[in-house]
Amino acid sequence: MRTQSSLPPTNSLAWKKLEQQAEALKHSHLSQLFAEQPERFKTLSLTFSPLLMDFSKQLVTSDVVGGLVSLAHEKQLPAWIERLFAGESVNDTEQRAAQHWALRLPAAAEGVDADLLQRVQNQREKMRGLVEQLRGYEWKGYSGKAITDVVNIGVGGSDLGPQMACEALNDAAVCANTQLRQGDIAPRVHFASSMEGSQLAQLLQELNPATTLFVIASKSFTTQDTMANVETVLAWFGSQELDETLMKRHHLVGISTRSDLMQAWGIAPEHQLQFGDWVGGRFSLWSTIGFSVAVKIGYEAFESLLAGAHAMDEHFRTAPLAQNLPVMNALLGVWNTNFLAINTHAVLPYDGRLKHLPAYLQQLEMESNGKSARRDGEPVSYRTCPIIWGEVGPNGQHAFYQLLHQGTERVSSDFVLVANRYREAHYAPIANSLQRQHRLGLANGLAQSQLLALGEQALPDATDLPAHKRYPGSQPSTTLMLDELNPYSLGMLLALYEHKVFVQSVIWEINPFDQWGVELGKKLAGQTLGLLQQGSQADLSGLDASTAGLLMHVCESQR
Ligand code: F6P
Repeated sequence: MRTQSSLPPTNSLAWKKLEQQAEALKHSHLSQLFAEQPERFKTLSLTFSPLLMDFSKQLVTSDVVGGLVSLAHEKQLPAWIERLFAGESVNDTEQRAAQHWALRLPAAAEGVDADLLQRVQNQREKMRGLVEQLRGYEWKGYSGKAITDVVNIGVGGSDLGPQMACEALNDAAVCANTQLRQGDIAPRVHFASSMEGSQLAQLLQELNPATTLFVIASKSFTTQDTMANVETVLAWFGSQELDETLMKRHHLVGISTRSDLMQAWGIAPEHQLQFGDWVGGRFSLWSTIGFSVAVKIGYEAFESLLAGAHAMDEHFRTAPLAQNLPVMNALLGVWNTNFLAINTHAVLPYDGRLKHLPAYLQQLEMESNGKSARRDGEPVSYRTCPIIWGEVGPNGQHAFYQLLHQGTERVSSDFVLVANRYREAHYAPIANSLQRQHRLGLANGLAQSQLLALGEQALPDATDLPAHKRYPGSQPSTTLMLDELNPYSLGMLLALYEHKVFVQSVIWEINPFDQWGVELGKKLAGQTLGLLQQGSQADLSGLDASTAGLLMHVCESQR
């Protein structure tokens, strides 16, 4: 049975105090807190340029913020941060360090493990070489024609991060293309992840085998989703009667921690990119898994993404807890989850380029902190990761915002806004019109967070409203505002969320770097596949009635 009582973790004094503060605040409305504290924005917002985090619309007082910081100290957060950056084995169930931060160290970083830095640097250089060949149209396929399309085959962290970043950084990609040889455009980048082949089937209809490169991105190089897609790619080449060795040499890149498996799949050593097993899948965008991003935006812009993340690493490592953006973002999440009993959290970007951010954060947060066993092996007696979901804000307004405004669920949200947009030269002919649209989007983002916080009191003339027109408000949110969306600011934003996850794991005393819950499902799917293959001959006697009934239905309908 899952236990989620509100019992404090390990007799924490700070936790108990926060419970009392929550009790006292229970009947307060955010509009009241704003009225009582005119300086609220100044007091409850933090800037680490180019990122501003406004948490004045969270149901907190300065005392609560102090209490949350005390909780973090009580849980020895500063020592845990040191352990993370010292490369200690913080992933204890797999006896591994978690060193995604090392992937974004500058080449000349001092005071770090020189051997580690050199290994990272070697792979970066190898990746840069391959990216430059592709972007320079020097990479030729088996027929001598240049590669025009790159397909990233991967799933989970080997797909979500690169796909999200490619979409988010399309403007950087257009700008980088202006530096290519006249008339050239960089290869198009596509993604195929789903194990049943939907995306791949569609892509293969459109792509030319002579000019397509497939990137097999898989930390383990065994994930069935990815390998099933690769098998289909090989069958596709085979169906064109192409020599398999020639095709593998010219049309496959492998990215993995397992060079032995890349070798076994016939990937040429010069087309193998590696990373260490001390990088979790959902933290791997910064490793060579980011290859497709670098192909799309150019290697220099990819380095800028790393630099933004590194700047956030340094901020996280050195800023006092109360001024530390990832720490405060995490603690506010703990406050909502454990003290205000808000168990669902929406990610609402007001910029269509961030449309894959909610899916990316779902993996980052829920695969990391969706745990109910503590590091010491005891079951938790409190809630851990809430349900993370979201959508591009303006689209959500026409879908689920009704529930946020007038439903029965309490929901916390992160609004992600971008202050400036459409300033690149390629928008010049219609920049005025697009900037008008951008202002419209911003106005909606600001208005929605205001309405969620204040309810109908945001409107001066809202008196004597009938029940169906009332807005209760007091739905808490944080606004993360980027000056503009570029590789550097995106790097910062993503690293902020990574560190948020780590901080929450420290408070909840869980290991965020393993994912044992996913493993059993994989095993069971293998057995079920065996039964499906046996069809009507399969022995279903050991199965539950539902699974057996559904399997029988499939077999009958396939007859
Ligand atoms: O879902 C489990 C998982 O291991 C994720 O953590 C990972 O991102 C994904 O599968 C893909 O794994 P791999 O990169 O090894 O193919």
